Amino acid sequence: MNAVTKLSDFEVGYNIPAAIGMAEGDIQTPCLVVDLDALEYNIKKMGQFAKDMGVRHRVHGKMHKSVDVALLQEKLGGSCGVCCQKVSEAEAFARGGIKDVLVSNQVRDPAKIDRLARIPNHGARTICCVDDIDNIADLSAAAQKHGTTIECLVEIDCGAGRCGVVTTDAVVEIAKAIDGASNLKFGGIQAYQGAMQHMDNYEDRRGKIDIAIAMVRDAVDALNAEGLTCDIIGGGGTGSYYFEGNSGVFNELQCGSYAFMDADYGRILDKDGNRIDEGEWKNSLFILTSVMSHAKADKAICDAGLKAQSVDSGLPVIFGRNDVEYVKCSDEHGVIADPDGVLKINDKLKLVPGHCDPTCNVHDWYVGVRNGTVETIWPVTARGLAY
Ligand SMILES: Cc1ncc(COP(=O)(O)O)c(C=O)c1O
Repeated sequence: MNAVTKLSDFEVGYNIPAAIGMAEGDIQTPCLVVDLDALEYNIKKMGQFAKDMGVRHRVHGKMHKSVDVALLQEKLGGSCGVCCQKVSEAEAFARGGIKDVLVSNQVRDPAKIDRLARIPNHGARTICCVDDIDNIADLSAAAQKHGTTIECLVEIDCGAGRCGVVTTDAVVEIAKAIDGASNLKFGGIQAYQGAMQHMDNYEDRRGKIDIAIAMVRDAVDALNAEGLTCDIIGGGGTGSYYFEGNSGVFNELQCGSYAFMDADYGRILDKDGNRIDEGEWKNSLFILTSVMSHAKADKAICDAGLKAQSVDSGLPVIFGRNDVEYVKCSDEHGVIADPDGVLKINDKLKLVPGHCDPTCNVHDWYVGVRNGTVETIWPVTARGLAY
């Protein structure tokens, strides 16, 4: 679906929060607002980093779940494709015109494997991860059935403690099996260290990634010794990309959150001890919310509660304000401490979500704003797609 060409199908307030050309103050709340200048800044900056480091950037599309944002990342940031975590997300991106899609995850359910094997028919290079030799026959059979090719990366658990093998021997054994399987292609290594991304201290993060890099280097050397070359050696997130990028081993970064930023990520520190949302990246994603009650003198109630965001990584932060604080939420209400009683009914506030990925997943639309005016409206293409 392309919202911009079908806007006439939607009624502002009923099933879409804004119309193009509308003043920011008239947007229906709560909804996701994207500061387009800030988004474009982040996308261009990461694109330039990757270019300078001589690596590709395969943006993590599970963060925004939006074909429009992914296309912008291609156009302005030179990204080589997307990662996503679910077959349904991969289908949404491929159908939307993304030509290179990695499911940076394991696909084991037979029905999902069958769907994965059909994605190349949408014109997209299709890649997935494998951490179990028993998965290979199923992937191969599905790809043969549909006459397609699935590229497979062997996933290494380099510290995240979720999927992935932990020995070089296992990497080589699985890689050889992929290499020998019909309609599969050995593509390389997936190694994302997700557990360290949010560690505050830069040197602590470096320590964890040094371990990951050593594991990956060992595996690549062993694969090379067996005559297996890795087209993709991928990993890296917003809290670590400079380490993988400079490693001389990784050749693809997978950062996602950098594009929007959120309150939890914003707190981590760069190498000079500065918060990464105060210099390195700009907040471009906000939940626009309105004050709807101020019956108590020191407390305002806004319309963005739990159904408008995820608070798994902490409460949202009110952007650009030190005088008021979002302190609590329930399903449809956000409680804002307003000790000086400065807020008024219908005042609009911009909340920086605690965690961008699951917050985007509960909205249908991104309202793109520039200079106070709605410039574009993008659907959250893969919203709610978790299968
Ligand atoms: C496999 C994988 N790669 C990359 C990322 C992107 O990380 P970030 O949003 O920290 O940039 C994630 C996020 O969880 C991930 O799961």
